[in-house]
Amino acid sequence: MGYRERVTDLDLAHIRELPEVLPGLFADAARRAREAGFDGVELHYAHAYTMSQFLSRLNDRDDLYGGSLANRARLPLEVFRRVRDTVGEDYAVGCRYLAEDCVDGGNPVEDSARFGVAFAEAGFDFLSLSRGGRFEDARQPAVGSAAYPYTGPSGYECMPQYVSDARGPFGRNVEPAAAIRAAIRAAGQATPVVVTGGIHGFEQAEGLLRDGKADIVGFARQSLADPDWFIKVRLGRGDEVVVCEYTNYCEALDQKHVPVTCKLWDRKRRDEPGIALTGDGKRRLTAPLWEPGLDIERALAGSGDVRLS
Ligand SMILES: Cc1cc2nc3c(=O)[nH]c(=O)nc-3n(C[C@H](O)[C@H](O)[C@H](O)COP(=O)(O)O)c2cc1C
Ligand code: SF4
Repeated sequence: MGYRERVTDLDLAHIRELPEVLPGLFADAARRAREAGFDGVELHYAHAYTMSQFLSRLNDRDDLYGGSLANRARLPLEVFRRVRDTVGEDYAVGCRYLAEDCVDGGNPVEDSARFGVAFAEAGFDFLSLSRGGRFEDARQPAVGSAAYPYTGPSGYECMPQYVSDARGPFGRNVEPAAAIRAAIRAAGQATPVVVTGGIHGFEQAEGLLRDGKADIVGFARQSLADPDWFIKVRLGRGDEVVVCEYTNYCEALDQKHVPVTCKLWDRKRRDEPGIALTGDGKRRLTAPLWEPGLDIERALAGSGDVRLS
């Protein structure tokens, strides 16, 4: 495995001092986002990122930021506090973290439920749950390449493909997220919980909300495959949705650090005037235009808010 720093490499001064440095960096980034006009920020505490390493059971730092559950939550909470103080109470601040680490010795859902309660009590406006996607089980990178965290079994849990096991690829994060949401509700907190991972269809998403498994549903690949999914569904034109094939072609491009596109766009309507292509001219950089044959804004104005529960 190529060299990669971990938050537990305390012999390195810049790793030891992360708890002093990170709150200010997060707060500055959040301030810039607010000044740039964004409606809110999501602090990234998930996958292979630094804060996820702090939260993990694998974090055995010997200072106040590793070991016990309270110590592992300390920096994420300090970061949140600094961000909140910087952007103010009237600005949406949530975080994305892992319902389960999905690696040996990593966080089970029980730990993530306790973090969820602590985050809710601290005043996060929403909690968004993903799973896996970590470095510990990533495939050995090619010589000269960096390790990519979504290549091992935990990566599969994060972005499941159509090739799967008996549980199937879809909704693998639903029950863990629902358990965390239930713990947050049992603690008397109403913080909205977002669930993501292999969720693609209206019926499936609506069912999750109706059954109280989550409050918000996140889609990544399905909304890449069809950025108009939301409008089509809202207008009752779900039969026109371009359905993601979950082949992870897009993710393979991301691994190579080249522009991410969807395989379902690439060969379609290449004669569309003014379409942007990748440097080699082979792939579209935007989805083919959807031509619904009506004024979308007027139609949406007439459709009212979508109520899923
Ligand atoms: C092309 C691609 C790139 C992604 N890049 C990131 C990333 O940089 N950081 C991250 O935390 N998650 C990343 N993800 C993971 C998504 O945020 C999401 O958690 C995951 O795809 C599961 O949701 P889905 O089943 O709706 O696609 C990426 C996903 C895709 C498909
Ligand atoms: S390339 Fe397109 S169809 Fe394939 S997984 Fe990605 S979004 Fe889905």
